[in-house]
Amino acid sequence: MRWSIINFGTAILASLPTVFAADSAVWQDSETGFTFSQYAAAYAIGKSLTFRIAVPSTATSSAAYDAVLQISAPLEVGWTGLAWGGTMVTNPLTVAWANGNSAVATVRWATGHVTPNIYSGAQIQVLRTGTHTNGTHWQVTLKCTGCTSFTGSSGKVTILNPNGANRLAFAYSRTKPSNPSSSSSSFGVHEVTNYWSHDFSSAGNANFAALVTKNS
Ligand code: HEM
Repeated sequence: MRWSIINFGTAILASLPTVFAADSAVWQDSETGFTFSQYAAAYAIGKSLTFRIAVPSTATSSAAYDAVLQISAPLEVGWTGLAWGGTMVTNPLTVAWANGNSAVATVRWATGHVTPNIYSGAQIQVLRTGTHTNGTHWQVTLKCTGCTSFTGSSGKVTILNPNGANRLAFAYSRTKPSNPSSSSSSFGVHEVTNYWSHDFSSAGNANFAALVTKNS
C-alpha cells in the first residue's frame, strides 16, 4: 500500500495526546490545602467569578459524595450561584453572598424560571478557613452534602461524574439579598447566566475528610 497523505494525517492524529474538552484547570489552594478544579466564569467584559470544586478521590458515579465548593467573587457581586445540573430548573442551586467579613450560603431548587425554594435535600457547611473578604473580593469555601446527586422531576437520579467532565451553570446578580445575614433570605433575579464543562477528574483529594475537619 502506498503511504498516502491521508494515512500520514491519520498517523499524526493517532500519535497526539488525547485533548480534554473541559473548560476548567487545576488550582492548588495553599490556604485550605485542597486541590481544586477551577473555572473563571465571565459575568461582564474583563470580570469573572471563580468556581473551584474539590471531591474525595474515592468518589464513584454509583454513590452520592460530598463536594467542597469555593467561590471567589469581586466585591460588586451581590449574589452568585452554581447550578450543579447545568440548568436553572430541577437541580441543586448553591447560592452565596458576602456578609461582612464572612459569607452566607444556601441551597435552593427551582421548578421553573421563578424564585427557587429552599432545598432540604442538601446541607451546607461553610468552612471557616477560606471564607473571608479582602479589599477586592469576597470568598466562600463550603462543603455540600447532597449537591452532586439529585433526583429530577421524572424520578431519574443523576450523580455527577467524579472521574470526568460535568456541565455546570452559574448565575450572577449585582444586587445583594434582602437579609444578607440569613441563609433563608430572598433575593432577586440574576443579570447574567452561563454554563461550562467542569473537569471533576482533576478535583480529587485523597485527604478530603481531614481537610474539611482542618478548615472547619
Ligand atoms: C429570584 C430568583 C430567580 C429568578 C426569578 C430567576 C429567573 C430566571 C428566568 C426568567 C430565566 C430565563 C431567562 C431567559 O430565558 O432569558 C432564568 C434562567 C436561568 N437561571 Fe434563573 N432565576 C432565579 C435564580 C436563579 C439561581 C439561584 C440560579 C443558579 C444558581 C439560576 C440559574 C439560571 C440559569 C443557569 C438560567 C439559564 C437557563 C436555564 O438553564 O434554565 N437562576 N432564570
